[in-house]
Amino acid sequence: MPSFPSSFVAVLASTTALLPQIQAVTTANAEQAYNQLQTWYNESIGLYIPSTGWWNSANCITVIADLAAIDPIVKVESLAVFQNTYVRAQQYNLQMQKVVGPGYLPWTYYGHHWPFFPPGWQWPSPIQTNGFLNGYYDDEGWWGLAWVAAYDVTGNPWYLQEAESIFENIKASFGTTPCGGVWWDKAHTYVNAIANELFLDLAAHLANRGGSKSFYYLSWAERQWKWFSNSGLINIQHTINDGLNDTTCKNNGGTVWSYNQGVILGGLSELSRATNDQSYLTIAKEIADAAIANLTDSNGILHDVCEPNCGADGSQFKGVFARNLQILQKASPEGRYAAFLQTNANSIWANDREGSELSLVWSGPFLSPANASTQSSAMDAIVGALATS
Ligand SMILES: *[C@@H]1O[C@H](CO)[C@@H](O)[C@H](O)[C@H]1NC(C)=O
Ligand SMILES: *[C@@H]1O[C@H](CO)[C@@H](O)[C@H](O)[C@H]1NC(C)=O
Ligand SMILES: *[C@@H]1O[C@H](CO)[C@@H](O)[C@H](O)[C@H]1NC(C)=O
Ligand SMILES: *[C@@H]1O[C@H](CO)[C@@H](O)[C@H](O)[C@H]1NC(C)=O
Repeated sequence: MPSFPSSFVAVLASTTALLPQIQAVTTANAEQAYNQLQTWYNESIGLYIPSTGWWNSANCITVIADLAAIDPIVKVESLAVFQNTYVRAQQYNLQMQKVVGPGYLPWTYYGHHWPFFPPGWQWPSPIQTNGFLNGYYDDEGWWGLAWVAAYDVTGNPWYLQEAESIFENIKASFGTTPCGGVWWDKAHTYVNAIANELFLDLAAHLANRGGSKSFYYLSWAERQWKWFSNSGLINIQHTINDGLNDTTCKNNGGTVWSYNQGVILGGLSELSRATNDQSYLTIAKEIADAAIANLTDSNGILHDVCEPNCGADGSQFKGVFARNLQILQKASPEGRYAAFLQTNANSIWANDREGSELSLVWSGPFLSPANASTQSSAMDAIVGALATS
């Protein structure tokens, strides 16, 4: 008779105790969710507009690449999606403006689709689309990471070159704020965590993929981490607030959003891989544990404080945490992270689904209508669970 180590039996017992009657998500579930996501794909522009927005579309592409990496069926289909988005999305004129709303919740307004500029607002002058660049460094970072993810699946060097060229645009902002780091926006209104985390994350990803330029990207990743870790953005509880006050350069105490606890995990994991230095993983786990303690309910399900009114930007956040916890988990597995991903994915499928649609609140109930943002965000948790189980 085989004898199981007692720790194995304990894990099994505690997992079954925590998850009565809930089935584990399957690859078939993920494919069903992917097919639903693609019903919102606007082929003519290569974006998920009008279902969701510009930067959210980059996150849709990223989760498709992550699913394609573990599912040969989706991989075959995804090639045409990446190709179409690469060609069409960058020809699409972007008229948008973002504001930081109450509670530091960002809102993106568009000239040509919902959410429209509020009545009486002056439209920004028509922005000439410049590839995947626009007026916001965070949007650029999302697209940079989407093209790295598409490169990882396809090996297509165009995608890597696109990510590298986006990196250069963000890099030009480094050190131009009163506080160091990079700006959120080209209008220089805010120094926030997300744009700075994305710059670190993109640099660190490129450091592991940049061929002869790897050292260049690595030195930027290290430089940005040195700045970030001393910026005050990480608070005493090891969670990350929304931004800095650009007069005092102190932590502004802004909301602890799930996506700000997420992107940093991917960045530190890639930095650890590039340097072989485990200490980055120790810090990542400190942040991941603090975030899970702060942002989950008593059943271990992740929430943002904006729920259920997260607007068209906040509806994307939680998936970013799940996706990056997946990267950390692959770099240095912990039973508690595998359990977190599994628990959240299973809850989405059991409680936050109608047919193939996945909505905003992962503990349920399903909120109608779902859209490409809630769908792709929830899919990040499902793909994270499948990729680490
Ligand atoms: C695709 O996007 C274009 C440009 O915004 C829009 O005119 C068109 O209606 C969209 N197509 C669908 C099917 O929503
Ligand atoms: C930044 O801090 C200064 C000094 O404490 C304060 O007067 C100002 O309102 C703060 N700015 C923002 C945007 O919170
Ligand atoms: C999460 O952290 C914030 C401040 O960082 C705190 O106000 C809040 O009470 C915490 N919530 C939980 C559930 O731990
Ligand atoms: C997508 O759904 C979320 C959650 O209901 C909502 O907050 C968001 O505004 C929707 N996005 C769009 C573009 O309608």
